[in-house]
Parts: sequence; C-alpha cells; structure tokens
Amino acid sequence: MTTQPSNFPIIDQPLSPKCVRVCQNRTCKKQGAAKVFAAFTALPIPDVTVTASSCLGQCGNGPMVLILPEMVWYSGVQPDEVSLLIENHLLGGQRVKQMLYYRFHPQKSN
Ligand code: FES
Repeated sequence: MTTQPSNFPIIDQPLSPKCVRVCQNRTCKKQGAAKVFAAFTALPIPDVTVTASSCLGQCGNGPMVLILPEMVWYSGVQPDEVSLLIENHLLGGQRVKQMLYYRFHPQKSN
C-alpha cells in the first residue's frame, strides 16, 4: 500500500469559507426571498459567497437564510434587514439575535 503524496494540488481558486444560502424555493419566494437574495448580491462581501438555495426545509418561516459553515439560521429576513445582517454578522462576527430562527436558536427569556 502506498502513502498519500504530501504535495496535494493547490486548487486555483480562492477558498470561501463563509457561505450565505438564501432559499429561493416556492414558499420563501412567495415571502419575498428574491428581493432578499438581490439585496445580498448587490453588496459585495469580502470572502463570502452568496448562493440561491433550494428549499431549506423550513417553509413558512421565510425568507430563510442559512450561514455556513457556522450553521446560523435567520428567518423572516426582509430585504431592508440584509445590510444589518451583513454588517453585524458577516463583517462584524456578531449574530443578529432578533433575526435568528427561533427553532434552531432558542432565546432565553432572561
Ligand atoms: S421554501 Fe424556503 S425553506 Fe422551504
């Protein structure tokens, strides 16, 4: 058995560790997800990839936004809230608590 070579090919593309998935499936679209996606793509965010996503399995709570690799979920995101999300979370590293999806990020009452 041979061992793995230590010189793996270097991928000729910048790695984007952070990714924003904006659900563009039917239910989220009815709730305005296209405008949310447009708001994300209108503002270039360094080292962050924004992609349209198929259903994230949380229909009815949209527009749903999932931030990877941290697995942070935002629900009911409105286009005019996107800049806050970018500024606080993606650039500032602080979750926007009032926009977090309650099912996956339950908030303590006190
Ligand atoms: S349609 Fe967006 S979560 Fe299902």
